[in-house]
Amino acid sequence: MKIAIFASGRGTNFSAILNAVKKGRIKGKVALLVCDNPKAAVIKKATRAKIKIALVEKKDYLSKDDFEKQVIRHLKENKIDLVVLAGFMRILGARLVRGYKNKIINIHPALLPSFKGACGIKDAFDYGAKVTGVTVHFVDEKTDHGPIILQEPVEIKQGDTLESLEARIHKSEHRLYPEAIRLYARGKLKIEGRKVRILKGAG
Ligand code: GAR
Repeated sequence: MKIAIFASGRGTNFSAILNAVKKGRIKGKVALLVCDNPKAAVIKKATRAKIKIALVEKKDYLSKDDFEKQVIRHLKENKIDLVVLAGFMRILGARLVRGYKNKIINIHPALLPSFKGACGIKDAFDYGAKVTGVTVHFVDEKTDHGPIILQEPVEIKQGDTLESLEARIHKSEHRLYPEAIRLYARGKLKIEGRKVRILKGAG
């Protein structure tokens, strides 16, 4: 299974996934990083790990559709089976979502459907929630909406700062995302309408 990771920023999830692949936990290969931000730290991480990088900047294309056509060209060229969004701060359009139906997954730093959007951790913190968490889900045409694969709660403790909460959320993400990809690669995820059934059995 050939994986493309899409990221725009630091790339700590990128590294966690890469580690799980290296350790043999995920039966697959990270074949491509798709990045839309030339200044993103994830680029250095990919370079160091000798992962092929496709830098695609929205400003170089007339429309979102043209931008996505180029992204799809990269995916096809590299025979990608699974797209993993890991802090890719761009909403995917219909071309990509339909073209890779049930083959795109995303991580969101809150318990969906709560606190959707670009600032899930801060929004839950500012709201005064007592529990937030992490969600891994399939991507459909609505933002932060597709069928949920895995979720993990993270308590917001009295005395937490945004930074201390962020650190615990990321720790949970780095556990949950590789596990979701491992299950996908093993063919253990069955989508039934809005629900994802996790098939039991070896592995
Ligand atoms: C992660 O916390 C991820 O959940 C979040 O961006 C961060 C990327 O961190 N994604 C979203 O908020 C999507 N709505 P990373 O670059 O260190 O992996």
